[in-house]
Amino acid sequence: MGGRNPYIAEQVKFTPATKKFKVTFKSEGKTVEVDPEKVPYGDHGLPGSILDIALSAGIPLDHACGGVCACSTCHVIVHEGLETCNEASDAELDELDMAPGITTKSRLGCQTVPDGTKDVVVEIPEWTKNSAREEH
Ligand code: FES
Repeated sequence: MGGRNPYIAEQVKFTPATKKFKVTFKSEGKTVEVDPEKVPYGDHGLPGSILDIALSAGIPLDHACGGVCACSTCHVIVHEGLETCNEASDAELDELDMAPGITTKSRLGCQTVPDGTKDVVVEIPEWTKNSAREEH
């Protein structure tokens, strides 16, 4: 299943949404209505994760490892609704430590699943976009 790293024994716990809710991507100025009936939208990240939602709406959110908690390129800052998201696993926190500019509201988009009880506002940090897309 997308979102799980086969080399990490710890299973990420999350509560899937049961009703529609909205995720606003602040920097992109785009709000996406999430329909739990259609989740997962793809196979990148945990089902119904911020990454899954972003990609379904054509919002570019980098995911170098494919959404299995093995990089930090899907770093997002959850400005509103963080309390409705699953708790970060130890593996997520380890990867997040590698991300530039982390804040107390930082999460990995592929591992963060809102439960749909409240709308969520997310920012994809500029430094994440810039560092992941630089030509080498
Ligand atoms: S895409 Fe690699 S950790 Fe999320």
